[in-house]
Amino acid sequence: MNKNIVSDVAHNFLPLIRNPAFDPIKQRDEIAKVLSPFVGVDESIFQYGIKRPQPPDRTRTIFYSPELLFLLSRFDTDFRLPVHNHEAWNILLICSGTMHFRWYRRLDNGAESGKAKVELADDRIVKAGELGIVAQPPNDIHQLEILTPGTWMLTVAPCYEPDVRDIHNPPQGTFERKPLAVLPKVAA
Ligand SMILES: [Fe+2]
Repeated sequence: MNKNIVSDVAHNFLPLIRNPAFDPIKQRDEIAKVLSPFVGVDESIFQYGIKRPQPPDRTRTIFYSPELLFLLSRFDTDFRLPVHNHEAWNILLICSGTMHFRWYRRLDNGAESGKAKVELADDRIVKAGELGIVAQPPNDIHQLEILTPGTWMLTVAPCYEPDVRDIHNPPQGTFERKPLAVLPKVAA
């Protein structure tokens, strides 16, 4: 794949986020169109990314500026995350493969420590060329599970993710602030 797509897509994406009215939830089709050159992307772009300090080497930074970040990841079906936040909007493009994606809206005002009332706002199986979209905080709460081995995903965000997140338990209406970790494997 042509490595020029990375800078070209970033160039086309910046005008969207520089608009003060940017709302990723409302601009799904427009965002999918701008990111579409990444559909089918693989090792041919991943090889240019910057490795993260700790293994596993499944995510690389392929574009960085002070206002926009692209991460490219290669996930297997053991990649299953709990319900968590990012302190930022987030767009997940499936380049190939599939993921189960859930996005939650926060209904309380955050006044009570460790408590959060959230409602499921989007629950979808995301396929190649489709998006999982996480809204601006406080509605930046989501969960994902990779369904196809060797799924490639592009993450678009305005900044790196914080070291600790709010890890939610929606049925209990609670959350804990701690590092994000992959959930244990489900027994076959
Ligand atoms: Fe996330």
